[in-house]
Amino acid sequence: MDLITIAKNNIEANWKGSFTIPTARLYPFQWMWDSGFTSMGIALYDLEKAMTEIRTMFSGQWENGMLPHILFHSENETTYFPNYDFWMSNVNDGAPSHPKSSGITQPAVFGFVLEEIYLQHKNNPEVILFIKEIYPKVLAYHRFLYEYRDPHNEGLFFIYHPWETGRDNSPLWDESMDRIVIDPDTIPAYTRRDTQIANAEERPTSDQYDKYVYLLELGKKYKYDGPEIAEHSPVLIQDSMMNAILIKSNESLLNLARALDLDSTYLDQKQDLSIKTFKEKLWNQDLESFVCFDMRGNHQIAHKEIGGFISLFAGLASNEQAKVQADYLWSLHHRGYYLCPSFDVDSPLFDSKRYWRGPVWPQMNWMIYKGLLRYGYMNLANIVKNDLIELVSKLGFHEYFEAEKAKASTQDKGYGGPNFSWTSSCFLHLKLAE
Ligand code: GLC
Repeated sequence: MDLITIAKNNIEANWKGSFTIPTARLYPFQWMWDSGFTSMGIALYDLEKAMTEIRTMFSGQWENGMLPHILFHSENETTYFPNYDFWMSNVNDGAPSHPKSSGITQPAVFGFVLEEIYLQHKNNPEVILFIKEIYPKVLAYHRFLYEYRDPHNEGLFFIYHPWETGRDNSPLWDESMDRIVIDPDTIPAYTRRDTQIANAEERPTSDQYDKYVYLLELGKKYKYDGPEIAEHSPVLIQDSMMNAILIKSNESLLNLARALDLDSTYLDQKQDLSIKTFKEKLWNQDLESFVCFDMRGNHQIAHKEIGGFISLFAGLASNEQAKVQADYLWSLHHRGYYLCPSFDVDSPLFDSKRYWRGPVWPQMNWMIYKGLLRYGYMNLANIVKNDLIELVSKLGFHEYFEAEKAKASTQDKGYGGPNFSWTSSCFLHLKLAE
């Protein structure tokens, strides 16, 4: 069977009637940014289904505008931890009672997802109606990020749980997580499910997991949107990737507003401030990279990692900044890495196998590919695209992949879950959409 058919079949197998799960067993619910990336691929062959996927995601939006990182559509599914009964989203009055959800968010992808779908189906009146229906919901979500997560009105929002960033166990969060001292009386007993399903060596450690639960409990204590979170959380970070994605999605919403005559007053005010602060606060000249900012420690998090490259996708880098980032990616290519490793390969914290501490992730390649095209780096963009296509062809539609070519050549499959939705979708998009 050809790879395009396999990709579609994977998505169809993960389709649960009104949404897709990322992969069977390991992630049996609807995840937010997975849903966004997956809907873009689905839109290339089944527009109705893609629109349903997005509508289902927004059926879980909270009254305050928050879009949860997981929607637990099936309350009978017990193989996942932390499940809806552990999150207890009903501590917040504005959380819908159905679908039940987590209490934290994930990268704000839906603005650019809507624009991608619009551009693919520009002349379809049904798509225009759909955009008009979803646009205010995406706007309400962006408003949530600015109003609940930007206490100093800087135009950058904070995260307080690593799961919000989508890069769960990246070394970026280590210093902040080290501030957490676990008192066994403050976190409830729990049993992990992920390590029963996936290889423990490819998953976060148990110490990290205790701290994830600690932060979940902290969010719950303050109803997931209280100002006390900013006051008390030991983890309070302006993530360069999350903010670049928000800025990119703002830009897409502004483009849609212009094309379809929609109200964009709120974003007109916010976008300039966000761009300005991002450029001033998050560039690190020594590392030649955009980095995250630790608001608790009041300093930049000085690590080179994949999130910094999303500045290209959002058009935030100057031409010189884009050039040094491109040169760095070329050097990794020449040193025998697949593009793009998720963490600095020269750091002692790099681990080519463990989740976000080194491996290559499909949706990141999709964004970086688009970013390099935006700055005119065609050849490098094609390497980013073809590396992912090669990994998928050789190692299957897995969740993530070995970054070192020499090691990958001895393997017969990728890491994490198999038949993964966003891997299939990004593959389809890179192959079929231009
Ligand atoms: C992991 C990833 C996260 C993703 C989720 C579902 O938690 O780190 O980015 O959304 O799995 O695929």
